[in-house]
Amino acid sequence: MNESSNGRLLQQTILVTGGASGLGRAIVERCVAEGASVGVLDRDEASCRSLEAEFGEHVLCVTGDVRDPSANEHAVTACVERFGGLDTAIGNAGIWDYSMPLVEIPAERLSAAFDEMFQINVLGYMQLAKAALRPLAARRGTLIFTVSNAGFWPGGGGALYTATKHAVVGLVRQLAFEFAPHVRVNGVAPGAIATSLKGPASLGMEARRFPAEAMLRGAPGFVPIGRMPTPAEYAGAYVFFASRDDNVPATGTVLNHDGGFGIRGLGATPRGGDDLLERLHL
Ligand SMILES: NC(=O)c1ccc[n+]([C@@H]2O[C@H](COP(=O)([O-])OP(=O)(O)OC[C@H]3O[C@@H](n4cnc5c(N)ncnc54)[C@H](O)[C@@H]3O)[C@@H](O)[C@H]2O)c1
Repeated sequence: MNESSNGRLLQQTILVTGGASGLGRAIVERCVAEGASVGVLDRDEASCRSLEAEFGEHVLCVTGDVRDPSANEHAVTACVERFGGLDTAIGNAGIWDYSMPLVEIPAERLSAAFDEMFQINVLGYMQLAKAALRPLAARRGTLIFTVSNAGFWPGGGGALYTATKHAVVGLVRQLAFEFAPHVRVNGVAPGAIATSLKGPASLGMEARRFPAEAMLRGAPGFVPIGRMPTPAEYAGAYVFFASRDDNVPATGTVLNHDGGFGIRGLGATPRGGDDLLERLHL
């Protein structure tokens, strides 16, 4: 059952929330390429339909909101009914606060913004975990949550986003404990990605455009690896945590997969090795 012989995802069924766009879509593409059948839960109806048109029988989409327990249950049930079970559930749908500093959030809007950010970024993952636990336990499966560099370091969002992503790190650890030894729970913490990440409606940011091009241009100045990875380049980490051959020791861990924000150092450049090749005469 669902065992792979080479670390790939042959015959696995994988459910991805927020799989209709950006990082989630890249994870879907990679999982299909690895031989998996993929379910998606996303609130963007048009992107869901285009995903199904592109991937045909390999992908099923459920349109719904990750905050809604019945939407998560519906997506899990649809995967089990269509593909026969569930091996991996990936909580990934999220929103950003456009780095709005606490001092700039109007006091009368803070509570609503807090609720919206935490309900999508944290409660959504909990709803997925609750809905998927039974079929995952039946197959000794895996939960994977998208964290962020903001789960570890300040400055990758405002107080709201950073707090939600720190909360996800705690959720990974707690659920890994609660579900051991039956279901592994791990996180992937990507760095900046050129996507169309949206903001909270409660702060009027639901249609705001992520500054992807500016971030791509500016990346050499702030990403230690010198550029911003593509969404597809992040997807392999999810394959690793889903793979029954490779994930055996992994539970309760979060992979800093952010281009090196943790080793930026104290100098003017985020890299200590900019002149390394010169010094090595290469
Ligand atoms: N873009 C970045 O720089 C970056 C960096 C680190 C982490 N992340 C994280 O990556 C994840 C994916 O974001 P992305 O950058 O691919 O953005 P994106 O907007 O391209 O994709 C997010 C998807 O989630 C869906 N979604 C949002 N709220 C939802 C809800 N309430 N119910 C159902 N679906 C919902 C959206 O419709 C969209 O398809 C998020 O958790 C985000 O916090 C992004």
